[in-house]
Amino acid sequence: MQYFVTSNPPSSQQSDCVIVAVFEQGELSPSATVVNEQSNGYLTKLFEQGDVTGNAGQVILLRDVEGMKSPRLLLVGCGKKDNTTENQFNTAINAMTTELNESGADDATSYLAEIDVTSRSTDWKNRQIVITAESALYKYTETKSDVKPTSNPLTKITFFSADNSAEQSLATGLAIANGMSLARTLGDLPGNVCTPTYLAEQAIELGQRFDAVTTTILDEPEMAELGMHSLLSVSRGSREDAKLITMNYQGAGDARPVVLVGKGLTFDAGGISLKPSQGMDEMKYDMCGSASVFGTISAIAELKLPINVIGVVPSSENMPDGDANKPGDIVTSMAGKTIEILNTDAEGRLILCDALTYSERFNPEIVIDIATLTGAIIVALGRQATGLLANNQDLANDLLKAGNDSFDRTWQLPLWDDYQQQLDSNFADIANIGGKEAGSVTAACFLSRFTEKFTWAHLDIAGTAWNSGGKNKGATGRPVPLLVQYLLNRIKDK
Ligand code: BES
Ligand code: MN
Ligand code: ZN
Repeated sequence: MQYFVTSNPPSSQQSDCVIVAVFEQGELSPSATVVNEQSNGYLTKLFEQGDVTGNAGQVILLRDVEGMKSPRLLLVGCGKKDNTTENQFNTAINAMTTELNESGADDATSYLAEIDVTSRSTDWKNRQIVITAESALYKYTETKSDVKPTSNPLTKITFFSADNSAEQSLATGLAIANGMSLARTLGDLPGNVCTPTYLAEQAIELGQRFDAVTTTILDEPEMAELGMHSLLSVSRGSREDAKLITMNYQGAGDARPVVLVGKGLTFDAGGISLKPSQGMDEMKYDMCGSASVFGTISAIAELKLPINVIGVVPSSENMPDGDANKPGDIVTSMAGKTIEILNTDAEGRLILCDALTYSERFNPEIVIDIATLTGAIIVALGRQATGLLANNQDLANDLLKAGNDSFDRTWQLPLWDDYQQQLDSNFADIANIGGKEAGSVTAACFLSRFTEKFTWAHLDIAGTAWNSGGKNKGATGRPVPLLVQYLLNRIKDK
């Protein structure tokens, strides 16, 4: 999709379709009011006859409306006037995009950013339209043989902006949307395609696409030399070689970097602590943390942000095998701490701990890990919020704010030292599980033992990275919007 800006009013705008917002109880947006006047009260009539409700997500496509230069008019319901919520706005844009893509229109002009959405800025609304429209058009095709292209796809959306200020919002929105789309594709790819080696190749490709990105890949012997025996112990049960991928985006000279560490488990069968077979296919999504790092690096490189960001992706499979980790095995991490593996399905922390230790070498200002780490976070927060735990409250606050700003929200859980004792082991420095209670907190506690040297936050995205089951099954691209927003806010605050 291409995006443009216009300052024409809706009646004189020439495009295949003009999009205006309407509300419940027959209320009209400013642009819908203009259209209504030009058409001698046509919209009022449609409301009176009950065709239009204004409910969020209702879309009504009209042809040849009097007084309009454009052949089509799309009415988009946005709920209660002056009370449209972010969710309703997203629902409306989603419906609008799907409808337009299936209509004959090639290009459309949107007058939606003029409506009130809680207290969001015009910039936010323009960005959100792009992100949500691109998300609606995302279609996984990689492993389908019968893909029919849409016969008359929408290819251009023009935004109304009195002063052309929308340009930057559109560019930001598009970069985020592209990053999300990359993250979704990587997530949706099956485990037999998207292996650690495949992820490494994708990282190399990212480095080729952007001058500011350099990629390095460590293989298993190189990791062994660094003492990453915790990470390697997980990979030992797999026929696929583990990779440690580093993507270095340099946009700010020699400033200290933000390091993003993404869990890249390309398939998590649980290992010897084998998972139940029901829904196990979804464990191909156990690399969505790494996918969000790819997506974020791609977005900031596209935007040429003045910041240094290093993506670190430990990537492996977790499989049952004669050579796999066994419950009770003890391994030595790169940091020198010994770990008793009481459950081989708690493997994310085993690969992340070595990647976190590895991150020390970049002298990071901030380290954020992103991981589909615990089923328990879904019990606690559902699929709405990403779990957030941090060893620094300022960083936690920044991430909470970035979540609200981007509407890709997080919610904080405690990382009190009270929980640490749950990780005590009789035979090693630390156990890899902390028992039944507070599973997401003890998982973060485990990671916290390896992050004492820097300011760190952990994002548990097990509930938010993909939609589970049924027709809806698919990666979401979260938390790319949150991460990019965090970096944008950081640049602004400096
Ligand atoms: N990748 C899973 C977490 C997960 C489970 C994400 C379900 C999404 C849905 C992780 O490696 C895992 O298996 N965690 C265990 C930890 C437990 C053994 C302490 C879990 O959550 O059950
Ligand atoms: Mn697991
Ligand atoms: Zn896992």
